[in-house]
Amino acid sequence: MTICSAPGKVFLFGEHAVVYGKRAIACAIDLRTEVEVNRGGNGIHIHSAFKDDPDKNPYIKMAIKKVQQYVDIKNLSVKVSSTIPIASGLGSSAAVTVATIGALNEEFQVGLRKEEIALMAYQTELEVQGAASPTDTFVSTMGGTVIVPDRKVLPPISCGIVVGHTGISKSTARMVARVRALKEKYPDVIGGIMDSIGCISVRGEDLIKKNDYRSIGELMNVNQGLLDALGITIPELSLQIHAARQHGAYGAKVTGAGGGGCMVAICDEKKCKEIATAIGRSYGDSFITRSTSEGLIIK
Ligand code: MEV
Repeated sequence: MTICSAPGKVFLFGEHAVVYGKRAIACAIDLRTEVEVNRGGNGIHIHSAFKDDPDKNPYIKMAIKKVQQYVDIKNLSVKVSSTIPIASGLGSSAAVTVATIGALNEEFQVGLRKEEIALMAYQTELEVQGAASPTDTFVSTMGGTVIVPDRKVLPPISCGIVVGHTGISKSTARMVARVRALKEKYPDVIGGIMDSIGCISVRGEDLIKKNDYRSIGELMNVNQGLLDALGITIPELSLQIHAARQHGAYGAKVTGAGGGGCMVAICDEKKCKEIATAIGRSYGDSFITRSTSEGLIIK
């Protein structure tokens, strides 16, 4: 029997633009998905905590198929539990995929290194959802703060992080397709927006190394303006973002594909409670989280 867990994530900068090869920066957060694999039984059985989300099982099935390229897996039970809200931009699909591949790698002694697990998880996401960047799977495998496509890993950020959850589920694939259609219609205009988002992530690396959270927040706000221009913000997310800023967040923006899901604010740790309350009053739920250096781990 092997149990592995992998974290969710927030994007500080760069969602959508990363799909076109621009730079993005994401942080692993302390919400996790745990996958337990047991050999034996008759056939392959998945007991998923995502009962109300049958969409997660394809990720687990595809992850098993990928590992089956290396070892013969016939009889297996897989149990999944998770604290990451689903379909919310917090990387729940990546976490279940990474934790499944990690657990199978250990149980069947496949010998994949972390970089190879991240790559296999990315290929799994690509096959299941059609479009994906390697951000979610890389940060979930490595932990800390990651820069994609460079695949750099920096330590976790050490300011307060507050997440607002609209509870409105969204499809990443659909949002990516909408942005792609806009880009195809206005390549000159939207191409410029993607370039600007990429520039923000380039500036972001240095600011993260200097722990300059005020400037990081300022650039998150600029990034949000550009995401708004891509049409991925909904009014409920705007309410949460403005509530966070009004209550002293250094910066606040959508995290992930948008169209629902979550926003993220960074702030002085002393302000977390006040900002979480303000977000919750504006719309939906909120919670305080931390950035973590723990990526994929064997328990
Ligand atoms: C989804 O969490 C973020 C997007 O950039 C898609 C991706 O990076 O795979 C919209």
